[in-house]
Amino acid sequence: MLSYSNPCIWGLLLLVSAGCAQVENTIEDYDRFEEEDEASERGSRQYFPKIGLVRFENSVCTTQEGYMGTCVTKKQCEYSDGLQSGSCTTNGIGRCCLIQRTCGESSAFNNTYFSSTNYPNTFNEDSSCTFTIEACPGNSCQARIDFLSFTLAQPDGNGNCVDDSMVVTGSGGNVPVICGENSGQHIYVTFVGNNSITITISTSSSVDLQRSFNFLITQIACDCPTLAPAGCLQYYTDLSNTVRSFNYGSQINGAVVTYVNATTVAGTRQLANTNYGICVNMVAGYCAIQWAQSSDSTSFTVTGNTALIEVVTGLPNDPLYGAACTTDFVVIANPYFSNGVSVNTDRFCGNEFDTVYTNSKPFVLTTVTDADELGSDDVANRGFSLTYTQQACRGNNALLQLTG
Ligand SMILES: *[C@@H]1O[C@H](CO)[C@@H](O)[C@H](O)[C@H]1NC(C)=O
Ligand SMILES: *[C@@H]1O[C@H](CO)[C@@H](O)[C@H](O)[C@H]1NC(C)=O
Ligand SMILES: *[C@@H]1O[C@H](CO)[C@@H](O)[C@H](O)[C@H]1NC(C)=O
Repeated sequence: MLSYSNPCIWGLLLLVSAGCAQVENTIEDYDRFEEEDEASERGSRQYFPKIGLVRFENSVCTTQEGYMGTCVTKKQCEYSDGLQSGSCTTNGIGRCCLIQRTCGESSAFNNTYFSSTNYPNTFNEDSSCTFTIEACPGNSCQARIDFLSFTLAQPDGNGNCVDDSMVVTGSGGNVPVICGENSGQHIYVTFVGNNSITITISTSSSVDLQRSFNFLITQIACDCPTLAPAGCLQYYTDLSNTVRSFNYGSQINGAVVTYVNATTVAGTRQLANTNYGICVNMVAGYCAIQWAQSSDSTSFTVTGNTALIEVVTGLPNDPLYGAACTTDFVVIANPYFSNGVSVNTDRFCGNEFDTVYTNSKPFVLTTVTDADELGSDDVANRGFSLTYTQQACRGNNALLQLTG
């Protein structure tokens, strides 16, 4: 018999209005489940006749607290250790079911919230918290993890997550070790076959900080158009949005870097050892993309002595290109300036980012940081906050650009 505590069965039965549906389900199945279940609870084998036939979709619903839930019956929600929060069908049969999990647990349910123990309360101690995202065999190919809230300790002055860290294992794509402040960021992870993916968050009491985290994990079916292309750790679908490096933030990292001669300089907020794609889905009717520094004057501080340049000349200042960028940089394929002149290189670093455009598809900005921020003199870097704007196709050129 089908088990309604198995989300993979749900997944197969789901009628998802978002267009990534597998097989249609009707309330008939659920009625039967509930009746069988209630019968077995009473120790009876009697099959109760149906009271009525009602259909509803297991669509995404909003719980009373404003979280994402799935519309299911009361029993299904109980069996999946969910929290019923409000009704999601007019007849009152459907309950909006919230799936919340914490350290040491796992889930294969779509729209699972994984949060630190006793969230939204914070914690400040040594800990190691593991969570497992299970794949539904043959159904889920990726998961999107939204960092609704993510506060861990800053990296050391060289950008390494030595005290606190989030490590993802089992994903087909390369996921960097992440720490610091990352609320509002997201990542895509890719299931390898039917294997699960594990998130491990470790914290060290050597840093006195009130931490907490709360993630929303969305599973993406293999036939779903919202799958991120290969190589994209982050994926944006809007016409325009702002993308930031991990741990981008306004406060200076309290950690310092000490040179061999014992001089100390302010540490970086950029995370070391990253190399990933930030991809943008090209919207129909749009042929090019503009990348620009966010309005804030220090929103592109990637290499060099940021602290010194800010004091001496003010920021933004010192855009660097091409061969000058060997340690930490961003890459945009075939970029040109607003006057149409080619940049003649695809690498950007330094402390200023001049607005550029590209027609190269897919739209992707690759970001690279090296293992060590000491040797490359990366003083007080924040990383980057760049705003992209897709550019509408224009006249005949549009056709050329689309096919070219
Ligand atoms: C995943 O599981 C499904 C169903 O159990 C099976 O058909 C498929 O071969 C498995 N895929 C891999 C790569 O192991
Ligand atoms: C999971 O839920 C989202 C909406 O939050 C939906 O777009 C997606 O298709 C669902 N995934 C699966 C595998 O049903
Ligand atoms: C210490 O070393 C750094 C890096 O090599 C150098 O920039 C700095 O000028 C040195 N400071 C002193 C006081 O020698």
